[in-house]
Amino acid sequence: MTRPFLGFGLGLRTEHYAYVLENKPAVDWFEILSENYMVPGGKPLDNLDRIRADYPMVMHGVSLSIGSTDPLDPDYLKNLKQLIQRVQPHWISDHLCWTGVNNTNSHDLLPLPYNEDVIAHVVDRVEQVQDYLGQRILLENLSSYVTYKSSEMSEWTFFNEIACRADCHILLDINNIFVSAHNHHFDPADYLNGIDTDRVMQFHLAGHSHNGEMLIDTHDHDVCDPVWALYATALERFGAVSTMIERDDNIPEFQQLRHELAIAEDIAAKTLPANALAPRLNDVRTA
Ligand SMILES: [Fe+2]
Repeated sequence: MTRPFLGFGLGLRTEHYAYVLENKPAVDWFEILSENYMVPGGKPLDNLDRIRADYPMVMHGVSLSIGSTDPLDPDYLKNLKQLIQRVQPHWISDHLCWTGVNNTNSHDLLPLPYNEDVIAHVVDRVEQVQDYLGQRILLENLSSYVTYKSSEMSEWTFFNEIACRADCHILLDINNIFVSAHNHHFDPADYLNGIDTDRVMQFHLAGHSHNGEMLIDTHDHDVCDPVWALYATALERFGAVSTMIERDDNIPEFQQLRHELAIAEDIAAKTLPANALAPRLNDVRTA
């Protein structure tokens, strides 16, 4: 597979709308949070349309709840499809998780047990979503803080099996791998080595917090040095993968985030041949 490569992006946040619109900063692309724009009209969509006119975009959701035993939400999928038609993103993603059950929303991204029954359940639902949307989706690995007695395999085996059987793509969050590896005492390199290189379409980078012995995926700090090192290891395994930084709290000035993104660009330039990093925008739509 020739992996589409968008280059280096940032999460689009409302705090930065004015700066982006006025200055059109040099960023290869933006990732938007889909649910922020599932509204009938108004300023969010107006800003979105204006910024989309200048930048490639991908869409990232938090409400699909692909692992839940509740039926898929037809209204959510309809709104998602409408937003896809409006934004024309290069791809869309959500998380390999469940967010609630019995119509109760936890408003959190919860991990799944890693076993064959859950694989079959999730694969069936991913196929339903992809059939409805008419395109493949990306699923992202969580950071997690609990495990299940009913898990029978590693997270990376579980994740890889779902992606291969459902024929979907993978969004690898490098910080989430680091956080989960710390919390559950596994080697993050084992995770990277367990993932099919052809499935990975995007990387996330983010900062985390320390809470006693646990690391928490808070997205409120800069990316730390060990996560940068893991990013370099990931580039060595997967090659050029579209990379973005997520920042959701303690959000700094746009220029500071742009500076942090330049660290990712530097690491990639030192790790990969220059011709691997030329964005290939003519073939970036996933199908
Ligand atoms: Fe992420």
